[in-house]
Amino acid sequence: MISSPNSPISCQTPRVTVIGGGKVGSTLAQRVIEKNLADVVLLDVVEGMPQGIALDLMEARGIEGHDRQIIGTNDYADTVGSDIVVITAGLPRKPGMTRDDLLKINAKIAVEAAEKAIAHSPEALFIIVTNPLDVLTYLVWQATKLPSHRVMGMAGVLDSARFQTFIAMELGISFADVNAVVLGGHGDLMVPLPRYSTVGGVPITELMDTSTVERLVERTRNGGAEIVELMRTGGAYYAPASSTCLMVEAILQNQSRQVTAAAYLQGEYGLNDIFIGVPARLGCRGVEKVLELNLTDAERTALHTSAESVRKNIHRASEMLASV
Ligand code: NAI
Ligand code: 2OP
Repeated sequence: MISSPNSPISCQTPRVTVIGGGKVGSTLAQRVIEKNLADVVLLDVVEGMPQGIALDLMEARGIEGHDRQIIGTNDYADTVGSDIVVITAGLPRKPGMTRDDLLKINAKIAVEAAEKAIAHSPEALFIIVTNPLDVLTYLVWQATKLPSHRVMGMAGVLDSARFQTFIAMELGISFADVNAVVLGGHGDLMVPLPRYSTVGGVPITELMDTSTVERLVERTRNGGAEIVELMRTGGAYYAPASSTCLMVEAILQNQSRQVTAAAYLQGEYGLNDIFIGVPARLGCRGVEKVLELNLTDAERTALHTSAESVRKNIHRASEMLASV
């Protein structure tokens, strides 16, 4: 890792830049340093805000007992030599808004952020969180011209965690015994897979009746909106930050961990030239492998429908960016 001469961050530890110091970004920064994973550069357009958050987190360092550093900045020069760049900058969804309503403004923010970040960190891997993340992951990949395995989007870990949570709550069992799989784009058309979602290895389709499974699937699809409706002033950020941190950890620690991530497809699942949520193995090179599950015709059709919606928005966003 290269060290910026003006930065207090040491050159021995990995560096993660988090662009967007809002709810998700600041919570992610906290998770990353408090798990001792990496030093963090927190960047936002709002002057003083990331600096204040960084100072606050540094003051907690002795109490939390970790050794990582964090700086807050408005200047991309401070992000130099980052191993991972996470993009959380943008607008969150407000009540009544769809994720795709955010397309135009967030596409511009994400692409500009990626272009500035890659100029200072040519070796970095990119994780896109800003919505609509499947679309923005594609645009960031195009803008940075990176190999596709070095760019990925976060949502599948979150959607799977939500499904997992609802299954555990329904059955009154430990979350630790539940494994859930959700494919597709992060939207109303996501594809939770009950057949591959298990409790101690037993598919939930053998543990619950069809209407219960369907209710949990619907709640998962509606998971982000449910929290927006409750909070009224923003969206979820604790679980999104934890989900992103899990991906950061898998990469920095070269875990070859299998998660669901928006990864580039080249024929897998019959889909080409698109980033969408699929089981992916994450390690130090980014997406090491995409795992192709056997899907029923209905599951495959649902995944393709979700992919078509993502593709349509990639075209819309590309046209909008070209006309700016
Ligand atoms: P927030 O509003 O709290 O934070 C966004 C931050 O981005 C603000 O601090 C804002 O000043 C900053 N920002 C705006 N333009 C910027 C720019 N050009 N450069 C740098 N910073 C800029 O929003 P929150 O709740 O943190 O959500 C962030 C994004 O993450 C939203 O798009 C939201 O929809 C998305 N999200 C995605 C999830 C997923 O599963 N992929 C889950 C949760 C949120
Ligand atoms: C979520 O699912 C809004 O995408 C965000 O919580």
